[in-house]
Amino acid sequence: MYIIQGGETLSGKIKVQGSKNSSLPILAATVINGKKNIICDVPLIKDIEVMCKILSNLGATIVKRGNVIEVDSEKVNSFEVPEQLMREMRSSIILMGALLGRFGRAKVSYPGGCEIGPRPIDLHLKGLSLMGVDFSEGHGFLNAKTDGLKGADIHLDFPSVGATENLMLAGVLAHGTTIVRNAAKEPEIVDLQNFLNRMGANIKGAGTDTIKIEGVKIHDLRAVNDYTVIPDRIVAGTYLVAAAITRGHIILTNVITEHLEPILAKLRETGCVINSRNGQVELYVDKPMVSLESLRTLPYPGFPTDMQAPMMALLATVEGTSILTETIFENRFKHAQELRRMGANITINGNTAIIKGVKKLTGAIVEAKDLRAGAALIVAAFAAEGETVVEGACHVERGYEDIVGKLKALGAKIVKKH
Ligand code: EPZ
Repeated sequence: MYIIQGGETLSGKIKVQGSKNSSLPILAATVINGKKNIICDVPLIKDIEVMCKILSNLGATIVKRGNVIEVDSEKVNSFEVPEQLMREMRSSIILMGALLGRFGRAKVSYPGGCEIGPRPIDLHLKGLSLMGVDFSEGHGFLNAKTDGLKGADIHLDFPSVGATENLMLAGVLAHGTTIVRNAAKEPEIVDLQNFLNRMGANIKGAGTDTIKIEGVKIHDLRAVNDYTVIPDRIVAGTYLVAAAITRGHIILTNVITEHLEPILAKLRETGCVINSRNGQVELYVDKPMVSLESLRTLPYPGFPTDMQAPMMALLATVEGTSILTETIFENRFKHAQELRRMGANITINGNTAIIKGVKKLTGAIVEAKDLRAGAALIVAAFAAEGETVVEGACHVERGYEDIVGKLKALGAKIVKKH
């Protein structure tokens, strides 16, 4: 749990960590080439630890040197992801595409839903079936098998990030050309394409809604000596909100401003002053903030769903009524009831939250049920009067490297207890 004393203004400079949601698919991709891959600026967070455990369980040799992770996948000799490890991190489903590429087999346990909705994988399975994969289920396991992946023309019903990644990973060694239409356009998809092309794959179009993957042969693939993942745009956005809610002044380094634009646009609309130049972003508040008539989460380049919870915390302290609509996940408002315990005035109506700003929040004992909800409660606690206890630190540590250290450096009064 985290114990936070509210009332401090957060100001200072923070270096943003590497992206969790780029690192995970790129680590999965290391299975494909059977070579040594060195990935830099990987964040030291729980989800990365789990992915590394899974890779070594498959037979890979992992060497960790701080934020540099070396994965030698030559000796990977299993295509089965242990159930316990799958349970720890549902996004390990993206190993399926890589394992099918390398072995023509994959055995994963059905990824459980989590606190933000059922998290189906129907789009992954439909696309892989078109590529010649047969699936059978039994005892909670999903067995995938192919006599040889073949290129296919796939139209995703929804621009799913995970499904796009799985199909890219499967397409690398498929026979022929794979086209993914209505593909996710998130920056992490572009990062994965760049990593795979450094490995010798032939992929074009990431960042647009149509991605084309020309299959190559495994002997065409080479080791990747030093690939640096992009900065984490959601962690960056979270720290910007932490400064804004305390009316502070923050400078972020190691950012790609373009990836932050959807977040910066909405923060500017609330009245934050934001300057971005030479890889840094500065935010401060010099006038009363204003509520948002409409904030809708959408696939990139829309406003990111992962920023919805922290933004709700900020809007709870801004005078006026803000309307926030979550269009990506069915059940991603669990943090609202916890914010209400701190005095927030939030009404949930289906996938819409009506947030009426209050003069002040008050400290309380609250519980984080997922990663970004936890971040939102920590952010809210900085603006609350008195002490807040945020239970569920384990969720937050899945995605935020050294969050206590970084926030303390900005002047926050936060300690972590067991
Ligand atoms: C990725 O999850 C991210 N995780 C999520 O971040 C992020 O919220 C999400 O993309 C949306 O941007 C990682 O990259 C590891 P989706 P993913 O497939 O791939 C439905 C965080 O906090 N869907 O784009 O699971 C699904 O139920 C995490 O860092 C299907 O219906 O997201 C959801 O409603 C949380 N069928 C929507 O699409 C499918 O086959 C978006 O899912 C796949 C998805």
